[in-house]
Amino acid sequence: MSGAKNAALPLMVASLLTDKPLVLDNIPKLADVKTMSDLLCMLGVSIDCSGKKMTLTAKKICSTTAPYELVKRMRASVLVLGPMLARTGQARVSLPGGCAIGVRPINLHIKGLQALGADIELKDGYVVASVPKGLKGGEVSFSIPTVTGTENIMMAATLAKGVTTIINAACEPEVSDLAECLNGMGAKISEHGTPKIAIEGVDKLQGTEHRIIYDRIEVGTYAIAAAITDGEIELIGDGLGELMSGATSVFEQAGIRIKSAASGLLVSAQDLKPVNVATEPFPGFPTDLQAQLMAIMCVTSGTSVITENIWENRFLHVPELCRMGADITLKGSSAIVRGVKSLQGAPVMATDLRASFGLVLAGLAAKGTTVIDRIYHLVRGYENAVEKLQACGADIEEIL
Ligand code: EPU
Repeated sequence: MSGAKNAALPLMVASLLTDKPLVLDNIPKLADVKTMSDLLCMLGVSIDCSGKKMTLTAKKICSTTAPYELVKRMRASVLVLGPMLARTGQARVSLPGGCAIGVRPINLHIKGLQALGADIELKDGYVVASVPKGLKGGEVSFSIPTVTGTENIMMAATLAKGVTTIINAACEPEVSDLAECLNGMGAKISEHGTPKIAIEGVDKLQGTEHRIIYDRIEVGTYAIAAAITDGEIELIGDGLGELMSGATSVFEQAGIRIKSAASGLLVSAQDLKPVNVATEPFPGFPTDLQAQLMAIMCVTSGTSVITENIWENRFLHVPELCRMGADITLKGSSAIVRGVKSLQGAPVMATDLRASFGLVLAGLAAKGTTVIDRIYHLVRGYENAVEKLQACGADIEEIL
């Protein structure tokens, strides 16, 4: 399996916190990683890649502006706000704007940095932040556990004076992976992976070498690929079972059998069943697997109810699945999915990263040929998806 996109992006940004080299191993080859590299290079980070290793060195920050052109392409760009502010005392980051899956505000990132003493104003579509005398530790209490918000504040707090406590912090494994790397750089972060993280600020961080965790969303996606085609798959990597803990019970209810093996996990389907599931922050069922789960429920006999609690508009795949013969009704934030005997291939359109793989899965199970347009969404977050599926026997090709 590949390194996690949502771990790799904040880990790359952590390089802004030190003038020493940060070496990241297990870097996935993805469009979003390329966008983050472009942004960091613009800020003065030199980046060398060799195989799965990436070395990032921010000897000197030469710009503190993250421009609209890059932030609108990838919202995770907002992660540079906290580290740049901590390292240089100023940062100017474009407001990301809306996106296909929801409004995606960054008010909690801003409030958190204000609690650490930053002056922040919104000007010409940009967040303009400064803290001439340096950040001071404080209490940051999130009304919603935000993943990149927690990462932004955690990174900023490593170089703040005194202790910062993040209350209602996100507990996702990617947040812990970042904390482990920062601790390797000399930060003092404790209780990450719980809703209350404590960070004792230090004067300086050093370089380190860190191996990125596997992508639990990729693991879940390929597990569903095996189940929807009534196949069996071996997913290779250490610690995959632990990473999947948020999804395992739902998979079990659905009849997607996951067994530990020496190499990683073995997945097969056994008597698929409908589920009643709601997306939740970790350790709940991840929103980033919602579209893929819906694809398999479309061909599972019985009625499933899938509720999306994280993003207000993450059902854009529903009309596309219906074009393939799925029987889905939307009711508020829930999708009522009545399983049909089979789907039929059709031309469909990808609307976001996870929705695009949901359509690939539906296409694998459907009779006939499915042609998916706007596939650029897929390469943002799935490394070598077409090659990996072909290697498992899927009849899929990328049409340029
Ligand atoms: N929210 C606010 N204000 C904020 C920040 C978040 O109201 O300042 C709300 C959001 O609108 C949302 C909820 O809080 O309703 C949770 O959002 P969160 O901030 O946790 O999302 P994120 O950090 O922007 C990350 C992943 C997403 C994933 C979500 C939820 C990265 C780079 N992105 O986004 O991944 O869906 O957490 O788990 O880590 C994907 O990979 O396809 C993807 C969208």
